[in-house]
Amino acid sequence: MSGSNAQSGNKMWGGRFAEGPSAIMREINASIPFDKALWRQDVAASKAHVAMLGAQGIVSAEDAALISDGLDRVAAEYEANGVPENWDLEDIHMTTESRLAELIGPAAGRLHTARSRNDQVATDFRLWVRDAMAQADAGLKALQVALVTRAAEHADSIMPGFTHLQTAQPVTLGHHLMAYYEMAQRDRSRFADARARADQCPLGAAALAGTGFPIDRHMTAQALGFAEPTRNSLDTVSDRDFALDYLMSATQCALHLSRLAEEFIIWASQPFGFVVLPDALSTGSSIMPQKKNPDAAELVRGHSGRIAGCLTSLIITMKGLPLAYSKDMQDDKPPVFEAAGLLTLCLAAMTGMVEGAKFRTERMRAAAELGYATATDLADWLVRQANIPFREAHHITGAAVKLAESRGVALDALPLADLQAIDARIDERVFAALSVEASVAARASYGGTAPQQVRARVAEARVALGLE
Ligand code: ARG
Repeated sequence: MSGSNAQSGNKMWGGRFAEGPSAIMREINASIPFDKALWRQDVAASKAHVAMLGAQGIVSAEDAALISDGLDRVAAEYEANGVPENWDLEDIHMTTESRLAELIGPAAGRLHTARSRNDQVATDFRLWVRDAMAQADAGLKALQVALVTRAAEHADSIMPGFTHLQTAQPVTLGHHLMAYYEMAQRDRSRFADARARADQCPLGAAALAGTGFPIDRHMTAQALGFAEPTRNSLDTVSDRDFALDYLMSATQCALHLSRLAEEFIIWASQPFGFVVLPDALSTGSSIMPQKKNPDAAELVRGHSGRIAGCLTSLIITMKGLPLAYSKDMQDDKPPVFEAAGLLTLCLAAMTGMVEGAKFRTERMRAAAELGYATATDLADWLVRQANIPFREAHHITGAAVKLAESRGVALDALPLADLQAIDARIDERVFAALSVEASVAARASYGGTAPQQVRARVAEARVALGLE
């Protein structure tokens, strides 16, 4: 590359890169536009590091104190004015160190003793991701509280249960809502697992091989709230499993939220009419005055795709990297930041939707009566009362459904004589089994849809959530 090209610009790069390759390098290299979000973690990790350097006599006590106070001043500036974005300083680590030098002079240069940006960024990012895990857990817990509250209200409300989105058997709305409580519980356990695995401190791995200075990694690990230091310096600076664990947990959680959102979208449609969504989480149409659109739910469904995209992004970034740090890894942060922002929003939106939804239980119940949702109850009754093998009972019930369908009536509206014409073993007691109430009450096996089972699960959940 000729010097004159580099100075005077080049036709190929065009006017935007008037300074030639150095301008391109500066722009492609800079992570400060996004990693400035790590400033709190960066200051905290630097303070832990310099306290350790002082305690170990690697820097003097005076310099350690000077640096620590200076870091507080930098943090106060960031808090008040935001983090300045100078691409020449590349990232949050160099930005902070450079401002520290301006504030306290040459002593600032001792801060970077026995560390590298490689262990520094691994530490800062891990601290940030741990907070994001805690935030996801709090959001999930709030969603669970909303779910159990509405489930308790609707332990007896009957709706059609679907398989293939075809009416299958009556269920209770409380049971349906508690299904999402279970999903949220698994999501919380995934985040908790991820957090436990991320409980080792990278600081002190230095560039890749450790350091010759007599550092105390247990001290810094403890100061930053980690259980222990990481055990292999090469692994430490090249490991982004904690970020992937976060994104995998976030993706699984977003997938659940998307399914719940989809239920609300379907339920809110006019043909279903099962739910009226809160006005605060819906919008109107600019052209059709009658419309009330479930935009928040649709965006949760949409955002879940973006969160899965963030996971894919980091997977592809990491998949071919040799040990140890490679600059590709700088691209780890934008997808995690993006996913975390989206997940927080999606959790809040779905919590609000569950809290504010007006369930139209009369429509749900009416829908449960359509579609021969109690056909299985007829078959079960034949098995129980007439000792007919289930396969044969299934066959008899099929004939009854066919007859009811041809007359356009519900099963329990068929006259007893017509049922007996199909099978003489049927008697009038069958009608007690064919109502939707009898159907759900009968499904009292552990974890079943019967109101008493739903109430039992809600009671356990309320204890688990600390509501009792
Ligand atoms: N900005 C960098 C990142 O986010 C910090 C680590 C730089 N390390 C290096 N060896 N260039 O990954």
